[in-house]
Amino acid sequence: KKATFVLAPFSGGQGKSGVEDGPEHLIQAGIESQIKELGWSTQVSEPLKNTNYESLKNDDSDTHGNCKRPKIVGEATQKVYEAVKFAAEQGTMPITLGGDHSIAIGTVAGVLSKYPNAGVLWIDAHADINTPLTTDSGNLHGCPVSFLMGLDRESYPPSLQWVPECLSTKKISYIGLRDIDQGEKKILREHGISAFSMYHVDKYGIAKVVEMAMAAVSGGDKDCPIHVSYDVDAIDPQFVPATGTPVRGGLTLREGMYIVEAVAETGNLVALDIVECNPSLGTEDAHILDTITAGCAIGRCALGETLL
Ligand code: ARG
Ligand code: MN
Ligand code: MN
Ligand code: MN
Repeated sequence: KKATFVLAPFSGGQGKSGVEDGPEHLIQAGIESQIKELGWSTQVSEPLKNTNYESLKNDDSDTHGNCKRPKIVGEATQKVYEAVKFAAEQGTMPITLGGDHSIAIGTVAGVLSKYPNAGVLWIDAHADINTPLTTDSGNLHGCPVSFLMGLDRESYPPSLQWVPECLSTKKISYIGLRDIDQGEKKILREHGISAFSMYHVDKYGIAKVVEMAMAAVSGGDKDCPIHVSYDVDAIDPQFVPATGTPVRGGLTLREGMYIVEAVAETGNLVALDIVECNPSLGTEDAHILDTITAGCAIGRCALGETLL
């Protein structure tokens, strides 16, 4: 049992600063030692170490059509891709700490290069499936899924043309959705993408929803490798307040933990992302603590911590 913490302190996929401090806060809070306690050996990989994307964030020339900062997003995600791919090839489980959700362009592509049939569980209030043609905000953290699928490929900025079209529309399922743009709804519907909103969580309960989501991405293979890309804003802001795009009406903390406990139980988890913790957005210390400890809890539950 070996895990690699891939640190991805990157904020260029959206406008607010502070989310680049997520990895440091999670590490300071002890996420690595907590996972060691569970019997894992760990190592740390820092693909963005000698970069300074924060200083490039205000370069107004870095745009492509409506997309904001495609150059730094393209570069940073490619470095994350190489690191995650390497960690997976070494037979370790990549646990990527963001950073904003644009970094999942790199993590999912890296994981799928080692496990081409892996299914992705995208835990999020948002679908992050805008394309450069549909995005209103221009923020690339709202677009990673479409890049991985190659949707509207002709509209991609040059810096993101390295992204392999690696994710099938049949190999992702969402849990926690509650804030989807019109263009995204159209994409989800047209491609018949598996998605469980908060409505479905209320209707069926979280256990049934996780079961259905895993069945959807596994395509009948009981050993199908699973990558969980966990945006902490899936959890209700009353538990996870320090995040850039909070949406009320989300998962309880326990529902949020249950998802990864249930995936851990299958033994099929091959990679985890924990993204969108933004310590700068806590208006009091308790907000930061709640958010960071929730991030740590997601990590522990995914790596096998049980209550009994
Ligand atoms: N749909 C909105 C957009 O495209 C919000 C995306 C929020 N994404 C996130 N990873 N928190 O801008
Ligand atoms: Mn900072
Ligand atoms: Mn989100
Ligand atoms: Mn997201």
